Amino acid sequence: MNDTTHENDRPQAPAREQAAEGGAEERARSEVRAFLLEEMREEAVRDMEYVTDSRTFYEVKMKYLGRAGRVTALLKRLKDVVAEERPALGKKINDLRVKLEEGFAVVEERIRRQEMAHRLAEERVDVTMPGRRRRQGTLHPVTRVRDLLIDVFVGMGFEIFEGPEIETDYYNFTALNTPADHPARDMQDTFYLNDRLLLRTQTSAGQIRLMEKKKPPIKMLSPGRVFRSDDDATHSPMFHQMEGLVVDKGITLCDLQGMLDEFARVVFGKGSKTRLRPSYFPFTEPSVEVDVSCHACGGKGCALCKGTGWIEVLGAGMVNRRVLENCGVDPDEYTGFAFGMGIERIAMLKYGINNIKLLTENDVRFLEQFRD
Ligand code: PHE
Repeated sequence: MNDTTHENDRPQAPAREQAAEGGAEERARSEVRAFLLEEMREEAVRDMEYVTDSRTFYEVKMKYLGRAGRVTALLKRLKDVVAEERPALGKKINDLRVKLEEGFAVVEERIRRQEMAHRLAEERVDVTMPGRRRRQGTLHPVTRVRDLLIDVFVGMGFEIFEGPEIETDYYNFTALNTPADHPARDMQDTFYLNDRLLLRTQTSAGQIRLMEKKKPPIKMLSPGRVFRSDDDATHSPMFHQMEGLVVDKGITLCDLQGMLDEFARVVFGKGSKTRLRPSYFPFTEPSVEVDVSCHACGGKGCALCKGTGWIEVLGAGMVNRRVLENCGVDPDEYTGFAFGMGIERIAMLKYGINNIKLLTENDVRFLEQFRD
């Protein structure tokens, strides 16, 4: 294979004659070549057996048939063989190439099947398996009632206003016509932070903050947390209130009751009625307690309403003229009403919850019952 011939020195005699003349040496050389090619084929077949994945397959295939592969190298060196031997040798090398290609095709198919089987096993999806249930949370009853109230009153044109939870004595009491020595301060056990600051005991503080900022007409709805040092089955040191305030020319108690009737129907059911009872709050005059007809017995009298047919749900009244004055609103020009309700209380009545603690313990078994 090492003979080097140059175009010009090549003998011009026909190949067959040349081979005959070459004799024994020529045959020997060709046998050696055949042997070496057979060696290479066997080696390749052995290599193929060790191919386990497409990466090694590619490496082994390139080792023989790649551009820098061994068979390719043989084909390239063919030009260095004497012309007479070239066709026969070329054919042999080519046969080897074809055989190896066939062999690699078989290996490739084997690897492809293996890898496919592997992937199928690994990515197997059992379509008959029941789907995984997604656990869905529920809205807290206090959130539900708050959202419901917001829907009702925003539907009537109220705007949401939220005041701070840490309030000054002035906004929580004094401006609401409850000066320091006023006995009504005892109605609410206040958490004081210092002489001036406290945790607001009522969302009514928001009335003042809003009226200082905005001139009538006003239709404010103010939801929020309030705090009182109070703790039993129906009172908790933190609870939520919803405050309402309407100030405009010619507002009367009738307007209040009209809106509350609508509120009662949405929250407690279509047949609900309201009734106003005289009461007292320093910041309203007159003041009323608002009762809603008992939704459990329809007003006939039952355990829930203690036989009266009515349930007290909120406090309200006409805004005291002193409060309007404190905010720079002329009480001879404008009148207004305000109401405030405890959201927990409404939720407890609506859903029949008998202990306010259930609303803060957040036991999921309790909360999961509030689904649509
Ligand atoms: N702020 C009062 C309370 O917490 C409720 C109320 C609000 C009464 C507005 C009248 C007008 O008890």
